[in-house]
Amino acid sequence: MPQTARLTIGKTEYEFPIVEGTEGERAIDIERLRAQTGLITLDPGYGNTGSCESAITFIDGEQGILRYRGIPIEQFEQHPNFGEVAWLLIFGRLPTEEEYTSFSTDLTEHANIDEAMKHHFEGFPRSAPPMAILSAMINALSCFHPEVFTLEDPDHFQMAAARLISKIRTIAAYAYRRSRGMSYIYPKPGLRYVPNFLHMMFSQPYQEYVCKDAVWDALNLVLILHADHEQNCSTSTVRMVGSSQANLFASCAAGVCALWGPLHGGANVEVLQMLEAIHQGNTTPEEFVRLAKQEDSKARLMGFGHRVYKNFDPRAKVLGRIAERLLAGMGTNDPLLEIARKLEEIALSDSYFIDRKLYPNVDFYSGIILRAIGIPTNMFTVMFAIGRLPGWIAHWWEQNETPGTKIARPRQIYTGNGATDYVPMNVRS
Ligand code: SDX
Repeated sequence: MPQTARLTIGKTEYEFPIVEGTEGERAIDIERLRAQTGLITLDPGYGNTGSCESAITFIDGEQGILRYRGIPIEQFEQHPNFGEVAWLLIFGRLPTEEEYTSFSTDLTEHANIDEAMKHHFEGFPRSAPPMAILSAMINALSCFHPEVFTLEDPDHFQMAAARLISKIRTIAAYAYRRSRGMSYIYPKPGLRYVPNFLHMMFSQPYQEYVCKDAVWDALNLVLILHADHEQNCSTSTVRMVGSSQANLFASCAAGVCALWGPLHGGANVEVLQMLEAIHQGNTTPEEFVRLAKQEDSKARLMGFGHRVYKNFDPRAKVLGRIAERLLAGMGTNDPLLEIARKLEEIALSDSYFIDRKLYPNVDFYSGIILRAIGIPTNMFTVMFAIGRLPGWIAHWWEQNETPGTKIARPRQIYTGNGATDYVPMNVRS
């Protein structure tokens, strides 16, 4: 296969190298394009543009494949351990027992936040969107850990990563408690990652929350399945901000803001609102699908479609199974799950969705699992952020450790005014 691409502009032919990834993905390396031709490329939304080479996550959108450091995500269904997957994504391989124990201990020991940070929560209105609090408090956290401003060596980085992964739970739980006017529950050293989070969310001073095994496994898997997804909008944001040598916490706070958008991490909230609207009888699954297909309607079948997956999002398949398993394990059923299955059945047999290769994505079933655990809808995107944080950290560190990393600075094609003179205010029409 030729390892160069030829481009003819006018009467001149240019040649550019083709790079090939581990799984046979190929790209035209255009680093010298502007220097050689004077032209740039234009690719709004970057659907055809690779921003980097990365060894963290592989996606094959046509085949519906997702692997973390080579491991297919389906294999984690039998090994639901979010801390282990976080270590895998960040450090490139599964941890030894000693490495895992040390990392897990760091996660446990650093769950608390500085007492002074609690006053910040009081400064937010109780109605404040949790994602606003999360991004603000991650930046605030760096002020209490100034060592994160200069992460030179791997040990300092590992401690900063463990601190952030541990404390994001506490910040999320306290944002929830603040919104309910409830006291803050301290993390409990004897509890593992997920049970400790749910303890801080749902325990009362007079009654401790007990995390059932089925809930523990389900939430571990939800976090694992959200942990990374190559150059999605929020991860690309973390890389963009990190490329200016902004610190890890500031870069991840920016990732939180990008994830908040309804087309990205905010979709899980929109899916639940869509299912609830159908459940309350405001519309039917058939009617909603019809509306979602209409060119002039703003309605979209939320939780469906993906920029990369043109086949099933493998995460949606696993999350669908987890939802069924958890509800059965809890001895309850959720009418929203039946509605979701009905929407999926209608859409997957409708040419509009088939022709556009629109399938359920990660957000289609995740909300049903979070709702079954008792997590309120307005916290769903926060849960996505807790899951995605190891991926953001892994990409920030991979970029930080890549020799020759430059500040990200895309170009543009200018379409505004030509050269124009200033007109003093008193003579303007
Ligand atoms: C995430 O990038 C990632 O990896 C993201 C993510 C991750 O893990 O980080 O996977 C997480 O963000 C998942 C996506 C969550 N968002 C939603 O579920 C929102 C609903 N989905 C869509 O808005 C849409 O599918 C996107 C944003 C996900 C992808 O949009 P694209 O690739 O830009 O596709 P598009 O908007 O150009 O749509 C192509 C066509 C259009 O129709 P036509 O103009 O060709 O007639 O498909 C239609 C769209 O109208 N379409 C939909 C649709 N999604 C696309 N029509 C109805 N319902 C939908 N959900």
